[in-house]
Amino acid sequence: MISYAYTAGLFGIDSYEVTVECHSDVKLSVFEIVGLPDNAVKEAKERVRAAFVNSRLPFPDREIIVNLAPADMRKEGSSFDLAILVSILINTDQLENAHLANDACFIGELSLSGDIRRVNGVLCMAIAAKNAGRKKIFVPYENAQEASVVSGIEVYGVKNVLEIVDHFNGLRPLTPVTYEPNENEDSLKYPDFKDVLGQKGAKRAAEIAAAGGHNLLLIGPPGTGKSMIAKRIPSILPEMTFEESIETTKVHSISGLLPSDASLIRTRPFRSPHHTMSAPALAGGGKIPMPGEVSLANNGVLFLDELPEFNRQVTESLRQPLEDGKITITRTMGRLTYPCSFMLVCAMNPCKCGYFGHPTKECTCKPTDIKKYISKISGPLLDRIDIQIEVPSLNYKEMSQKEESESSAAIRERVNKARKIMQERFKDEKTEVGNQITCNAQMEAKHIRKYCKLSSDCSSLMEQAFNALGLSARGHDRILRLARTIADLADCKEIEPCHIAEAIQLRSLDKKYFK
Ligand SMILES: Nc1ncnc2c1ncn2[C@@H]1O[C@H](COP(=O)(O)OP(=O)(O)O)[C@@H](O)[C@H]1O
Ligand SMILES: [Mg+2]
Repeated sequence: MISYAYTAGLFGIDSYEVTVECHSDVKLSVFEIVGLPDNAVKEAKERVRAAFVNSRLPFPDREIIVNLAPADMRKEGSSFDLAILVSILINTDQLENAHLANDACFIGELSLSGDIRRVNGVLCMAIAAKNAGRKKIFVPYENAQEASVVSGIEVYGVKNVLEIVDHFNGLRPLTPVTYEPNENEDSLKYPDFKDVLGQKGAKRAAEIAAAGGHNLLLIGPPGTGKSMIAKRIPSILPEMTFEESIETTKVHSISGLLPSDASLIRTRPFRSPHHTMSAPALAGGGKIPMPGEVSLANNGVLFLDELPEFNRQVTESLRQPLEDGKITITRTMGRLTYPCSFMLVCAMNPCKCGYFGHPTKECTCKPTDIKKYISKISGPLLDRIDIQIEVPSLNYKEMSQKEESESSAAIRERVNKARKIMQERFKDEKTEVGNQITCNAQMEAKHIRKYCKLSSDCSSLMEQAFNALGLSARGHDRILRLARTIADLADCKEIEPCHIAEAIQLRSLDKKYFK
């Protein structure tokens, strides 16, 4: 006889249904798993057998063949264990109400004692199970909150094999879990801008960057608050939509980074990888493909502190993710795509000693060293950073400021208003690679022509800047995108000369440091 149980496999952040077919025959006493299993799946044999024995369930003394279909997809990991076990239980008539498993999906790793261990990627698999028409999903107890986010499928959290057996034998029916928004997720709040003294210019730049989704580079001597400002940017970004939350949670789920009491990530991620990080760890990949920092930062902020310290090859690997908002990793089994739409924030000192351009402290670097330091950053990367702003050292008056600075909540309110204007504007606009445009930073040339029309006053100001700063066409477009954001923050339909002037200010570093 052949029995069936259903489970799901992972492919990137997507998941597909896997059918476990179990065949048994009295002739021999062997146990085989086929259907392109990797080593972890092959080892399921030993875990399943031990789980049977240690749960005091009779392991059949006959030939058992388990096939994981579709056979052309490589099955990885240990999450198929539970479904394999269930298929054997059904096959050997150990579940009285086996028909109730027909519309169920089973996910979980078995321990030798029969406990069910948490696995990665449960959110993605629950979505796949629902899309495949399953009505119930049985997952490790610790993954139940995560799966419960998906509506339209009953989620059961299971601690061990006996709970499954008793449930399907009608002895101790399990009750489905319901989604409970977790308070802890919101307490994951980021530090507040009200702690930052002075630095009006940099704070304004951060607000503009957050509003338009522009990438940001902060340059200045040590100890002026660059890292402080960067860490506070997520606190002024607009709230994530439900879809964004799901997408971000999926990436964290397959990476095993969701805390066990978490269901949905609702605060935008802030990732701050160290400069010794390798290119695959940043962009994604590796022998067992995993999302990189760029994908973990999806819908949030990727912060590269001390930018020139990063290996050039590593920062170069950011180019494609920055351009496309997704990253594709080619493997023998196919191409994996991970989302990576993030806001890039970088901080750096202007030179090795940190004091080039400082009003009072003397810089001890040789001019050639300063050039070398700056030139470590690749031009194409800088090209993708719309705002490059100086964060100067504070004077005493700013340091001893009595009144509190503006709070993140107040800034965020303006950011939200500007974003609403953008969402309305771009509701029917897509990029060349087909991504929905949601903010000004994503505008491509044709959108800039359409939405950043200039009056004659504005155009003559642009012309002056173009000639004086020796702007490229790229630089020109960048100023227009910024001016559009500044106008949106001011709730102005048309871009005005003052918006252009401020946008040019946000690029003044080009001249000072990079020429
Ligand atoms: N603008 C500022 N307002 C308040 N504190 C500041 C400011 N700038 C620096 N500090 C103090 O100095 C410390 C170092 O700041 P940090 O942001 O790490 O500097 P940077 O990254 O520019 O080297 C902070 O933890 C904070 O205590
Ligand atoms: Mg710092």
